Amino acid sequence: LEPMKIVVPKREKEPEVDDGKKKVTIFFGTQTGTAEGFAKALLEEAKVRYEKASFKAVDLDDYAADDEEYEERFKKESIAFFFLATYGDGEPTDNAARFYKWFTEGDAKGEWLNKLQYGVFGLGNRQYEHFNKIAKVVDDTLVEQGAKRLVPVGLGDDDQCIEDDFTAWKELVWPELDQLLRDEDDSTVATPYTAAVLEYRVIYHEKINSYTEDLTHTNGHSIHDAQHPCRSNVAFKKELHTPESDRSCTHLEFDISDTGLSYETGDHVGVYCENLNEVVEEAIKLLGLPEDTYFSIHTDKEDGTPIGGASLPPPFPPCTLRNALARYADVLSSPKKSALIALAAHASDPNEAERLKFLASPAGKDEYAQWIVSSQRSLLEVMEAFPSAKPSLGVFFAAVAPRLQPRYYSISSSPKIAQNRIHVTCALVHEKTPAGRIHKGVCSTWMKNAVPLTESQNCSWAPIFVRTSNFRLPSDSKVPIIMIGPGTGLAPFRGFLQERSSLKESGVDLGSSVLFFGCRNRKVDFIYEDELNNFVETGALSELIVAFSREGPTKEYVQHKMSQKASDIWNLLCEGAYLYVCGDAKGMARDVHRTLHTIVQEQGSLDSSKAELYVKNLQTSGRYLRDVW
Ligand code: 2AM
Repeated sequence: LEPMKIVVPKREKEPEVDDGKKKVTIFFGTQTGTAEGFAKALLEEAKVRYEKASFKAVDLDDYAADDEEYEERFKKESIAFFFLATYGDGEPTDNAARFYKWFTEGDAKGEWLNKLQYGVFGLGNRQYEHFNKIAKVVDDTLVEQGAKRLVPVGLGDDDQCIEDDFTAWKELVWPELDQLLRDEDDSTVATPYTAAVLEYRVIYHEKINSYTEDLTHTNGHSIHDAQHPCRSNVAFKKELHTPESDRSCTHLEFDISDTGLSYETGDHVGVYCENLNEVVEEAIKLLGLPEDTYFSIHTDKEDGTPIGGASLPPPFPPCTLRNALARYADVLSSPKKSALIALAAHASDPNEAERLKFLASPAGKDEYAQWIVSSQRSLLEVMEAFPSAKPSLGVFFAAVAPRLQPRYYSISSSPKIAQNRIHVTCALVHEKTPAGRIHKGVCSTWMKNAVPLTESQNCSWAPIFVRTSNFRLPSDSKVPIIMIGPGTGLAPFRGFLQERSSLKESGVDLGSSVLFFGCRNRKVDFIYEDELNNFVETGALSELIVAFSREGPTKEYVQHKMSQKASDIWNLLCEGAYLYVCGDAKGMARDVHRTLHTIVQEQGSLDSSKAELYVKNLQTSGRYLRDVW
């Protein structure tokens, strides 16, 4: 047994030295590492282009401990770049949240902004309502406050090829930096730059180290977060759909007793799961190395100097190739262009190398978009198509396969009822890609196959951590609530209702509550039906309204039910009700938002702009909360 311990050394603050060089700071707000990767790619290239300036890339969270320090440090910046991703319902990444709040809500204004020249690159997805909101807001605020925008805000779109968007934006940056960082008499032409293929240094271990340490010992961290997850056993699992269903939805309970983990109703849980065996086998075959190869990866050269400006993710602990592929390699997402270049560099067949390079080149843009992105070709499929490309382990884990990311779920229990358990409600992702592959979602498949403690002492486990959310019940339990959550969007509301049950049992007065739930058929996917009916019987839920989308001749969705209940919703809002929406952001949450607008407009006899203002006010006053993905 090898311990699963992802430890990121806390970045030491570098001492500030004044070497007379012009300084450029590149900030990043990153969730899965893409923004950080771009920031560091800009850093590496800039260092080569402008030897006379000094550059650093900084995690926005590590930059300052509090608002005062943000201000104090920003005052000293004169040229800055920001890489900012937008998540969920138009939110910043966890590590940019503090900066964003300080910069947009606090009084971060001041003279210092007049001295700042900057560029912003956003990472987002056009399919979502708040496309690149964070980048746009920061860019606008900077200009409003007097900073000088060097280049237009870059709107990276992950729905297409975000690497291309970054490359295009970067080309706008260089002429500006040429002006700022080159001496007037400097007539040298910038050195043409090609990014080196990154690589970890690998040490192969002859003998398997005896990692017999009991994993619960690694659970002693006082704080558990994405870098310090906590091993937790699967205590219980059940299928929520009836056997007639051609889909699947898993109810799974993690045991968090004696782990130090705790949560509040409405929080999210992050789960590090493993790739399926069949996926790992395939990857082992393609890499052509024995599965029990025991190795460790390192971010320094043998003499201790860092590799590639240390822009690699921190190494994972020593383990076998099988475990490294199961736990750390994302091999089912489509490969990035930089991964194709790394594969090309290690393809022994020159035709394959050429073709890979072409796909990653500007000339191959359309083919990349079609053959890789639109067909959702996975890294494994691409490697299968180029069998001569056999990257070394150091290259594979650094430049070809991104790190497997934790998956987030809205917790579907309340600690008031399940103090030692975290419940998850997870729909199975199982779909045919345009290229004909059956895509099995990594975490949902893992959950469906998990072995609970009720079946075996040798049960499944995963490193998990809790992420707090602002999806909370009103602090005054007499305030009415309206909940809208079709499908697995029901998850946090099950937690809410558990909490209300427990409050009711202890004699607390509850305001009224309405739940709009939606599913396909009453007999197939009406998840937690008995529990919901029970909540109604005990009074924890005042009214349950269900839309069945595939029972009648026409689709009925939650928003149609909302329209039918327009005057009730309006009356509750007038009484100060909170309104919550959870579920799919691209379709449902957008449609529900429109319906809400219409209800407010018609019931309140307001014109469209007044209705919009009303809904905005609900949002800013924290009475309209969305937990969407
Ligand atoms: P459908 O699959 O029949 O289209 C949970 O997934 C429920 O949400 C299903 O009944 C699903 O219906 C429904 N749904 C799909 N798209 C929706 C949308 N845009 N708004 C509201 N509900 C939607």
